[in-house]
Amino acid sequence: TVVAPNAVAAVSEARQWDRLMALARIGAFAGADGSPGVNRPCLTPLDREARRLLIGWGQAIGLAASVDPLGNLFLRREGTERGLAPVLAGSHMDSQPAGGRFDGIWGVVAALEAVQALHEAGQRTRRPIEIVAWTNEEGGRFAPGCMGSMAYAGFKPAGSWDAVTDGDGIRFGDALREHLRLEADLPRRPLGVVEGPAPHAYVEAHIEQGPVLEREGLDIGIVTGIQGSRWFLVELTGESAHAGTAPVSLRRDAVQDMVRAITALNALMEDPTDVLRFTVARIEVAPNSSNSVAETVRFTIDFRHPDKAVLLQRGDAIDATIRAAVRNCDVTVTERFHALPVEFAPEVTEAVARAAAAQGLGARRMPSGAFHDAQFMVPLCPTGMIFVPSRRGISHNPAEYSSPEQLARGARVLAQVLWELASG
Ligand code: GLV
Ligand code: MN
Ligand code: MN
Ligand code: MN
Repeated sequence: TVVAPNAVAAVSEARQWDRLMALARIGAFAGADGSPGVNRPCLTPLDREARRLLIGWGQAIGLAASVDPLGNLFLRREGTERGLAPVLAGSHMDSQPAGGRFDGIWGVVAALEAVQALHEAGQRTRRPIEIVAWTNEEGGRFAPGCMGSMAYAGFKPAGSWDAVTDGDGIRFGDALREHLRLEADLPRRPLGVVEGPAPHAYVEAHIEQGPVLEREGLDIGIVTGIQGSRWFLVELTGESAHAGTAPVSLRRDAVQDMVRAITALNALMEDPTDVLRFTVARIEVAPNSSNSVAETVRFTIDFRHPDKAVLLQRGDAIDATIRAAVRNCDVTVTERFHALPVEFAPEVTEAVARAAAAQGLGARRMPSGAFHDAQFMVPLCPTGMIFVPSRRGISHNPAEYSSPEQLARGARVLAQVLWELASG
């Protein structure tokens, strides 16, 4: 193993934490229990403000910023040899509507911390290292998530989501065009492997978002892969009517059909092993008035499983299950996201394991229940992730917390891994 002791020692716990707290002020709000939440949707003024802060920190140590046609942001440190593919490290800067201070943003800040540590230790790498902040990982404003990484990887054409609208009816394509206009002072770069070469490797640091590391008293998760996810949008259309006069037997009530549909889906998704994840969490009713029968209901389905066969079989049964359950409404089911389970490359998982061991940290191998941009890098290059503990496993919640020490340990492992990968 090549050791990068100087760079590892140069990782600054205080600097990384101060940066996270500065970024957390952008879009800050207080959760119901007073926890410091973040609401920073992609392609908004808040998103751009956070990006400017990051770009400034990067430029201060000589990193070159650039933006691709999806708005993915890159900060590049050159290597010693010309023409080599870069090692990519990063995550996302957008948040859930009621998110916390660490999901995504820590992976970007940790990559900067690791690169800054290499810089301050005077350690050059053969290969360039590029810090990346992917556009719209969360899918909270525009569904689905991971648009930036999917387009970069050629998984979907860049224009695939132009017509997707947010809660205010703004189209993704228009928001992106405006965003690129406002960042037109930054150099444009080609879109990932669609227009350019593949990276040499990709590493994403992320909070665990689950309880395993904390429960076991460990510092580092060596992420072995990510379970599969499928998102659906279900639209039920009936007819509005007067709640006091319309006989129930004559109604086409979209809420009642939604209840039937979800009840049938719960049966379809039953799993005694408790591995399967099935979530309905966004429901829109129109006209949304207590004394008018609901004419339309739109609800989302988030379905995940580590086994591809289960993901395909049960996911494919969703449409028919809903149609068999509803009585009076017209049904439309649209699949909006389909990511198969992936396994990470031993080149990266072994490097993470070696770095954790060399630094005397407690680590274990574990899969990811959350999806991440890393999922779409797997076909392009050796890919892996580093997890750090999340207090009580809480995430997608203002109470999300990892300590400065835990995050610094993660950044030190990332610094070692980046050094190793960029030296190879
Ligand atoms: C991404 O935030 C996910 O839902 O896993
Ligand atoms: Mn995330
Ligand atoms: Mn998230
Ligand atoms: Mn995520």
